[in-house]
Amino acid sequence: MFFYDEKKKKKNNIFFNEEGYKILENYLLHKVDSIKNTFILVDKNTYQHCLPLLFSYLKILEISNIIKIESGEKEKNIYTCIKIWKNLEELRANRNSLIINLGGGVITDIGGFVASVFKRGIRFINIPTTLLGMVDASVGSKTGVNLEKIKNEIGSFHFPEILIIDHNFLSTLPDREFISGKSEMLKHGLISDENFWVDLKKDLSNKNDNKWKNFIHKSILIKNKIVEKDPFEKGLRKILNFGHTIGHALESYFMDFKNKKLLHGVAVAMGMVYESWISYKINGLPMKHYEEIKFVLSNLYNIHKISSLELEVEKILSIIEHDKKNDRNKINFSLLRKIGICSYNCHVPNLLIKDCFSNI
Ligand code: GLY
Repeated sequence: MFFYDEKKKKKNNIFFNEEGYKILENYLLHKVDSIKNTFILVDKNTYQHCLPLLFSYLKILEISNIIKIESGEKEKNIYTCIKIWKNLEELRANRNSLIINLGGGVITDIGGFVASVFKRGIRFINIPTTLLGMVDASVGSKTGVNLEKIKNEIGSFHFPEILIIDHNFLSTLPDREFISGKSEMLKHGLISDENFWVDLKKDLSNKNDNKWKNFIHKSILIKNKIVEKDPFEKGLRKILNFGHTIGHALESYFMDFKNKKLLHGVAVAMGMVYESWISYKINGLPMKHYEEIKFVLSNLYNIHKISSLELEVEKILSIIEHDKKNDRNKINFSLLRKIGICSYNCHVPNLLIKDCFSNI
């Protein structure tokens, strides 16, 4: 018998595969006054490829309400939230309603944010369907949307009631999305577990292998341990942003270029290479660690050269100036000290940020 643990709610109630569905069924039968008051948020892809799988596990969900949005990062804005809030209103959602987010990071970020402020906050459950969603976006209560090109600028901390990790969804995921998700896992190794980095960097197994289930499990444990120590990102949690200061800026910058759009994980991989170089310059990261990181990530991802146009670097710098980690007009980074150890609140002068683009 599986129980939903009310006391653990404010941490992450994370469950895997079958156990997760049993917990969810139990929750729906005992904690929700009517399944008709449950709303499943999907995008076009998860509606087609993942919803049938979810229904096959939990038939009772078939009578819930489905809210469908377009797919992709471009939907992650306040206008999509307004559409969802209107939908909830029309479907008579109330304070006891429950939203189940079924999708990748975009769906769990939007759905969590929608839930966090609808009628001053309703409950939600995350069922991530992408690798990135499983190991990062859905873990740890950050919700939000982009403000034009500024990533995750509007958001809240709102804990899901339950997080279900079902590896079976990965079989519906295109390979490029899978490789993109792997970059957040490599990040978890780089910032806090050297052995995990070593295991993951040499792994060539297939995403359906059992080995991957263990990698995913391990990656979630690493992130969750950090989040539990600092749920509201007052300090330690900032290490999870390694690679993201430059990575987010690149992702925002390339949003405007039709054929150059970067997947989040690819942008983070690029950011990790640039930020490792900065770590080598000012945070004591040994040269051989920087070279190893650059070698591993360049083999997996197409690390663009940015240096050719000075104008591009200026634009990227101006995006970085909006980063949430900045403090009193100083640009703050999370930087590696060595593989497996990361510092946060590291002030990096603008000149060094510019230099990293021409030195890699
Ligand atoms: N993605 C970084 C964090 O959840 O803190």
